[in-house]
Amino acid sequence: MRTLIQGGTVVTAVDTYEADVAIVDGKIAAIFAKGMGPQGQFDTVIDAKGKYVMPGGIDAHTHLDMPFGGTTASDDFETGTRAAAHGGTTTLVDFAIQAKGDPLRKWLDVWHAKAEGKAAVDYGFHMIMTDVNDGTIEEMNQLVREGITSFKLFMAYPGVLMVDDGQIFRAMQRAGEIGALICMHAENGLPIDVLVAQALAKGHTAPKYHAITRPQIMEAEGTHRAICLAEMANAPVYMVHLSAERALKQVVEARDRGLPTYAETCPQYLFLSDDDLAKPGFEGAKYVCTPPLRPAAMQSDLWRGLRTHDLQVVSTDHCPFCMKGQKDLGKDSFAKIPNGMPGVETRLYLLWDGGVRAGRISMNRFVEITSTAPAKIFGLYPHKGTIAVGADADLLIWDPERRHVLSEKTLHMRVDYSPYEGREVVGGPTHVLSHGRVVVENGQYKGKKGDGKFVKRGTFNLQ
Ligand code: URP
Ligand code: ZN
Ligand code: ZN
Repeated sequence: MRTLIQGGTVVTAVDTYEADVAIVDGKIAAIFAKGMGPQGQFDTVIDAKGKYVMPGGIDAHTHLDMPFGGTTASDDFETGTRAAAHGGTTTLVDFAIQAKGDPLRKWLDVWHAKAEGKAAVDYGFHMIMTDVNDGTIEEMNQLVREGITSFKLFMAYPGVLMVDDGQIFRAMQRAGEIGALICMHAENGLPIDVLVAQALAKGHTAPKYHAITRPQIMEAEGTHRAICLAEMANAPVYMVHLSAERALKQVVEARDRGLPTYAETCPQYLFLSDDDLAKPGFEGAKYVCTPPLRPAAMQSDLWRGLRTHDLQVVSTDHCPFCMKGQKDLGKDSFAKIPNGMPGVETRLYLLWDGGVRAGRISMNRFVEITSTAPAKIFGLYPHKGTIAVGADADLLIWDPERRHVLSEKTLHMRVDYSPYEGREVVGGPTHVLSHGRVVVENGQYKGKKGDGKFVKRGTFNLQ
């Protein structure tokens, strides 16, 4: 199968240039100066005139088919990865969760079974460790050999997912020895639970209390603690879903000292705020995620962090729950609203429209934070995350003028609302290619269930 993408402008994290891109058997085979791509040798020619040719998005933080908060995330690997493809994301790294007391292996196998034969685009797994003990520490080595090279630990959700500092430290030590990366949910869960109980005792049950009981000081403290533990363990650490300025300050301070500290933020922290959580009635439940949305005035700090490279990645933390039958479990108590929001499909639209078009980031930085940096940090580079000879032909033909209005009715995620309902975005893919095959063309899905395969990721090697 030979495809030529002709006449477009290639945009990578570092370069912008006019070129023809040749794909043979799912890989980028050659890059020709514009107009020099040989004619007549290709099964398919895609006209990219006036468009950008960019690496497919990599979303390093999704929760598909995940049991959480008394229910299960509404997208599974079929619907979630298809929606990802529609939005220009061609690889995602999802979280497998160990149930306390079980070996990691058992639950990794469960996640393989959830995904295999269903996914529309390639996927990998991080492993969430809820129990760090001699057995699971040993298992980390085997998982790394199988391409599971990152492990998430929670400082939040006591009694459910939380591990203590000793466990965190042990996992970090092992990660440092074997080239794995610890992803940290940094919020101090025990005092947060006290605040939650106190709020409920006062009859404060509305969604907005989710943010009031999870103040950013608890995220900053967790971030500081995680960085200290990682420094002592001589290991890199990656802060997931960083939401606010005080936590970012901790990351900046660590990076200024040369520590291998990394962090992602998510579109919801860049584009939404606690005003959304405070919408009348139960509407705010749509916006309950953890860490919570912060005051709008804090968004500029995150944009600054993206510009200064103190934040390296924007992932989605896609964890959708329908309002009807799921979010409404928390009608009488914000503490029972399942935590999470849909986003796997809308990340690139929002970051292009609200980032590149709004003049906050360059096109190259857009590619870097949505594709190249996650590929490098999570062991997918250089097969993914760039446009180079030999790389997987996971590509977007991006029309900077394509307009549409984000709506639950037209988006493809399996959830009954969009947090961005009615927002017009400019810029989107006309073609999405996975391994050289067009899987989405002008909004039509052309792929099939099972096209996406598990990708074995390499060890962490950015130091
Ligand atoms: O609200 C969120 N973020 N739900 C998913 C679980 C997590 O902590 O990432
Ligand atoms: Zn988390
Ligand atoms: Zn998450």
